[in-house]
Amino acid sequence: MKLSTRIPGELRLNAISALLEEKRRRGEPILDLTISNPTQAGIEYPGGFLGALANDRALLYEPAAFGMPSARERIAREYRAPYDNVILTASTSEAYSWIFKLLCDPGCEVLVPRPSYPLFEYLAKLESVEVRHYSLFYDHGWYIDFHTIERALNYRTRAIVLVNPNNPTGHFIKRGEAEQLADLCQRHGVALISDEVFADYQIDPDFDSLLSLQGLADFTLNGLSKAVGLPQMKLAWMITKRLVPELEMIADTYLSVGAPVQVALPSLLALKEPVQRQILARVRENLAHVARHLRVEAGWYAILPVLDEEETALRLLRESGILVQPGYFYDFERSGYLVVSLLTQPDIFSVCDRDAVETFLYRGRHKLRRHLIHDVLRHHPPARRVPRLAHLERRVEPQGFHTAPTLARDFDKTLAVFSGQARCVNVGAGPPQLNTMPQQRVNDSKNPPVNRLVALVVD
Ligand SMILES: Cc1ncc(COP(=O)(O)O)c(C=O)c1O
Repeated sequence: MKLSTRIPGELRLNAISALLEEKRRRGEPILDLTISNPTQAGIEYPGGFLGALANDRALLYEPAAFGMPSARERIAREYRAPYDNVILTASTSEAYSWIFKLLCDPGCEVLVPRPSYPLFEYLAKLESVEVRHYSLFYDHGWYIDFHTIERALNYRTRAIVLVNPNNPTGHFIKRGEAEQLADLCQRHGVALISDEVFADYQIDPDFDSLLSLQGLADFTLNGLSKAVGLPQMKLAWMITKRLVPELEMIADTYLSVGAPVQVALPSLLALKEPVQRQILARVRENLAHVARHLRVEAGWYAILPVLDEEETALRLLRESGILVQPGYFYDFERSGYLVVSLLTQPDIFSVCDRDAVETFLYRGRHKLRRHLIHDVLRHHPPARRVPRLAHLERRVEPQGFHTAPTLARDFDKTLAVFSGQARCVNVGAGPPQLNTMPQQRVNDSKNPPVNRLVALVVD
């Protein structure tokens, strides 16, 4: 049998999955900090709601391309959207596949964020669509690197995907960024897709964060999977900015959502409040256990900076049976992050408490500092650094870390700044002195002469 080229070639287990398989085969206990399936995370669903799936109304089959009118109306009311713009699908994944079918010919491209949800590669490939990445960078919060979008856009680009809040970074888009993105999409004639499956799980949004792009994005996606913690129900929806009658042919070809779940929708949505309350309480409790993590605004994940992500993940699993995900699972641009699911049951989280995890994470602090500086040097060609430094000189104040976030944002967009106290390190020889923090300055003359560089490092 010949297979299509849409199917990936040989699928090989990575070292972490291989070790996990081996441990499971030997019957060893695993402290799994990666569970993101709410139905297996000890969430209590109010009793009796499954009865709604046995409603006799579901005995009648009345095919409707965009879903049953009663179910569409319910979603329209819930999300304050026009009825005609609500389209039901079996999952968010299916919504992506319909949108890609609608917009893309084979070989067309969609831009997706990096780091983000790893399924995009497959969702696109299965539609013969290519994925291109744009970058998110961390600076006491995550931001879009618009240069990378501009660079990736070309005549084959048909859509930009935004995940808001993003998985696994847990950040919302900023208002200004959303406008810039929408404007960019309009100028280039590409669609904007906003995946908002985690939007209800707000932990600590920034005042400047935009919680939904409904009305701004061409397609806004959500579903029961996360909004009500019921992925097995297979009901999701997209809300379009304007009517898209061409979608009807695609939707009508599949007619994929089952009648019982659509009839039961009001009863399922009634679970939103109790389920979301439990998940949010869980997420907050677990987050308090994570000693050091990057800022989280929403969602179910925390990101922990480490020195060597794969090595740390392997050691945690090998020596303590603790399962975490290394950042490369989510396409982080640089190595040095672990991802843990905050949906994990708290007793599991507290067993592998601060000490166990911290020993692994912070053993190499000194090296972490050097590693960061090295990273900064690698990412910042001198020509781009120098004018920015002149600009910075005017803005930096003498009190060390107060200025750190501003400094980092201005200095360059890809500089990774870790939470906690930061201090300023001045490296190398070069043009004008930046002596604003003399008491904290380190002048390492052994470094090769580079343009003067300011880096923020964990202290
Ligand atoms: C960003 C994002 N979108 C979509 C999904 C999948 O949603 P669904 O189950 O509706 O396909 C996930 C699942 O984790 C996700 O993280």
